[in-house]
Amino acid sequence: MADLAASLAYLRDLGFGENRPRVALILGSGFGPIEREVRDSVAAAYADIPGFPPPAGTSGHLCRLTQGLLWDVPALVFRGRYHAYEGHAPAELALCVQVANALGADTLVVTNAAGGIRDDLQPGSLMAITDHINLMGINPLVGPERLPGAKAFPAMGGAYDDELTDELLRAADVAAEPIARGVYAAVLGPSFETPAEVEMLRRLGADAVGMSTVPEVITARALGMRVCGLSLITNRAGGSDDSHEGTLKSGDDNAPRFAAVLKALFAAMG
Ligand code: HPA
Repeated sequence: MADLAASLAYLRDLGFGENRPRVALILGSGFGPIEREVRDSVAAAYADIPGFPPPAGTSGHLCRLTQGLLWDVPALVFRGRYHAYEGHAPAELALCVQVANALGADTLVVTNAAGGIRDDLQPGSLMAITDHINLMGINPLVGPERLPGAKAFPAMGGAYDDELTDELLRAADVAAEPIARGVYAAVLGPSFETPAEVEMLRRLGADAVGMSTVPEVITARALGMRVCGLSLITNRAGGSDDSHEGTLKSGDDNAPRFAAVLKALFAAMG
């Protein structure tokens, strides 16, 4: 069971929260190595943090929280995340963002791997998330009690901050990486989509599809944090050879490009 107070007590004891982290970065599948860019860091494995659910063993997620200077910005870096498809309760999907907020971060940068739906979103494309469609059938705010400090009925218009997203687009320019804007649809998974489901998603207005991110964004907005999101398109959604291994490999192959864009974004935020 998620236990925010226990998690925070343990992390503060290790020095988390000192030199207030301004930005929290959640690294999706395949982007874990970006964590190596953090300087002067303190780190804790999710498995060691009281109140953090045991992470599921999905390969590619060495789950660890690090605080330090990321490209000169005081930041928290979440390497690996909790997914609903691993059987975590909706409220457990809120925990990382609650921790980030409680330790002082007011900005959340979410990253993920996603399947491309719109024609121009091919494997290797980068997409700034401008909006989302929650088709997961869950919401992290569901429950008898409000999350501490959270709005009860948070607005989701403008969930992805316009200014921050513009900064992300400029950062991609600086890094000489083409980037698209698009709507991210979140599904429960863990099965990939059928071609008919992809066609449905396209007609609903989705440009890319994935199995994460939205619960974190909902939590962040409920807590009043600024959000921006960056997807790496790892495959065309609905293919017969979609695989988690393919997603991780694409994340790995494209991690340097992804990191270059994030570095330029952090430089602009610094
Ligand atoms: N569908 C859902 N999630 C994904 C995909 C996909 O095609 N690719 C990477 N994550």
